[in-house]
Amino acid sequence: MEMLRTEFLGKKVSSPLVLPAGVMGMSFSGLHFSAISGAGVVTSKSLTLNSRTGHKGPVIAEFEGGFINAMGLCNPGIEEGLAEINEFKKVCDKPVIVSVFATSTDDFIKLTKYVNTSKGDFLELNLSCPNVFDEFGIPLAASKEKVAEIIASVKKISKLPIIAKLSPNVYNISEIALSAEKAGADALCLINTVGPGMLIDKKMVKPILSNRTGGLSGPCVKPIALRLVHEVYSCVNIPIIGMGGITYGDDAIEIIMAGATLVGVGTAVHYRGIEVFSKINEEMKIFMKEENYANLNEIPKLEKLWTKDSHCQLQK
Ligand code: FUM
Repeated sequence: MEMLRTEFLGKKVSSPLVLPAGVMGMSFSGLHFSAISGAGVVTSKSLTLNSRTGHKGPVIAEFEGGFINAMGLCNPGIEEGLAEINEFKKVCDKPVIVSVFATSTDDFIKLTKYVNTSKGDFLELNLSCPNVFDEFGIPLAASKEKVAEIIASVKKISKLPIIAKLSPNVYNISEIALSAEKAGADALCLINTVGPGMLIDKKMVKPILSNRTGGLSGPCVKPIALRLVHEVYSCVNIPIIGMGGITYGDDAIEIIMAGATLVGVGTAVHYRGIEVFSKINEEMKIFMKEENYANLNEIPKLEKLWTKDSHCQLQK
C-alpha cells in the first residue's frame, strides 16, 4: 500500500479511504471490519449527549440513483459510543474520527469534553444532518455565523483536531467553508447527504420513509460532491475529506483531483460489500501505475475554477 500512504493532520494514514459517519453503525466491530477491509481512517456514527433511538422504519430505501435515508441520528450516546471507540483502539492503530452532533454551542462543548478523554484521533462536528428538521429545524451548517460560533468555542477546549462536516444543501458553500476555516477548523468534511428528497409508495400513496424525507447518497450525488469539493478547495487552505457517491477507484481519483485529501466511501458498501475499501485501493493503484503517479501527492489537482474574489462574499 506504499503508493496510498499519506498524512492527515499529523497522523500517518495507510490509505486515503475513510469510512464516513453512520455507514457501519457505532459498534466496535463495524469500525474494525472496515479498517481491516482497507479503510485508512474510520468514523463513528454521530454521537449525541444522550442515546437516541432514531426514526421509526423504514429509515432507508434504494432507488435507481442511490439511496435515501433518514436514520434520525440513532446512537447509544456519547459515553457508550466512546467506549466502543476505545475498544477499537485497543486492537487497531488506524485513526478514528469521533463524530458528534448537537444543536447548541453548550452541547458541543459538553461533547468535546467527553471526546477529550477518549482515544479518538480527530473530532468531527456534524453540523449538517438533514434528517432532524422536525425536531431541530434547519441544519447549523446553513449559517456561516453559527458554524463560526460553534467551531471557535470548541476550538478553545478540544484536544483533538477539528473537522467540520458541511452540508451540500446551501448556495454559499465557499462562504461557509471560509467561515469554518477562519473560526479554527483544522479540516472540512463534505458532502453530507443531499436534499432532503422523497420517494413515494404508489400503492399506499404515501412517502416510503417514515420521516417522509431523507438525504440522498450514492452515484447520483457524485457530480454535486465533485463540484462542492472543488469549489471549497479553491477557497480554503485546510484539507478536505471528500465524499458523495464514491463507488470505484476512478471516483476516488476524481474527487482527489477536485481537491480532496482523503476520500469517504459510504453507500458503496451496500453495492460492493465491505471489501469495497480494498477493491478501491487496488483500483486506485492500477490507475496510478498507468499514469506513473508514484504516490497520492503526484495526482494532479484540477486547475482552480473558483476564486475567493468571484465566489465568496467574505473576500470582497
Ligand atoms: O439520519 C441520520 O442519522 C443522518 C445523519 C447525517 O446525515 O448526518
